[in-house]
Amino acid sequence: MHPQRLRSPRLAALAAHVPNDAQIADIGADHALLPCHLAALGRITQAVAVDIRPQALALARRNAQRWAVADRVAVRDGDGLSALSPGDADTIVVAGMGGPRIAEILERGPTVLARVRRLVLGPQSAAWQLRSWLRSAGWGLRAEQLVQEGDHHYLVLVAEPGQPNEAYLNVRAGGVDLSDDMLMMLGPRLVARQDPRLAAYWRPTLTRWADTLDALGAAPRSSNVARREAFVAARLYRVQRALETIGAALDQPAEASPWGAV
Ligand SMILES: C[S@@+](CC[C@H](N)C(=O)[O-])C[C@H]1O[C@@H](n2cnc3c(N)ncnc32)[C@H](O)[C@@H]1O
Repeated sequence: MHPQRLRSPRLAALAAHVPNDAQIADIGADHALLPCHLAALGRITQAVAVDIRPQALALARRNAQRWAVADRVAVRDGDGLSALSPGDADTIVVAGMGGPRIAEILERGPTVLARVRRLVLGPQSAAWQLRSWLRSAGWGLRAEQLVQEGDHHYLVLVAEPGQPNEAYLNVRAGGVDLSDDMLMMLGPRLVARQDPRLAAYWRPTLTRWADTLDALGAAPRSSNVARREAFVAARLYRVQRALETIGAALDQPAEASPWGAV
């Protein structure tokens, strides 16, 4: 592969949010294609690619050599931000993990984060938990982007220190205000611009929740099952209704949802 081209639209979208001349750390870098690409382009001054898996570290080192950027991409064995010292990076990328895991990695590195001016994040599940963490930790959500790669839609979140509530204020979509927790769930900036990719992004999750409901419906009855069923049903119903409200209605197959069209 030519070093200046990233074949993955998801990685390219993440890379586009890294500021010029940044010092980056890519946590959970795996192949380290993102820092290698940015270093090869001369877009960043230096990078640290961190991973906890030996195979990933070997691959990252191979890619850094192959792309002739090993002088600018340091590969480090480590767990999350503990592999960094404060000042090692002004921009941190964490992508390709679930939202809760990314939040946990950030939560465990307050002294490193104190010197960071941008986070570029790619949560692959439960993004609302990461948005919630960012807001409570004082990070403002500056951008949200949905990007298609193959059949999947991926989310990119960009956060900077300060003004954590700003993205959630005065968001009107489809002529209505959505509740704060629904904005957290769907993404305040995606909602504010009624992002046309929202429906496709949500479809697999809603199908999964509907399947969970089907499975719970077939399970032996107990108070636990009933509680879980009520929780999943309410969440499915509320998200479907919110998406319709903002004009991102889904063509959900009727049999996939016990609620039918909402
Ligand atoms: C699915 S890969 C994502 C690779 C790349 N960031 C991307 O988005 O394409 C996730 C990587 O994160 C690494 N990882 C998971 N938890 C980690 C942690 N606490 N510290 C460092 N690396 C971690 C895994 O070993 C794995 O290589």
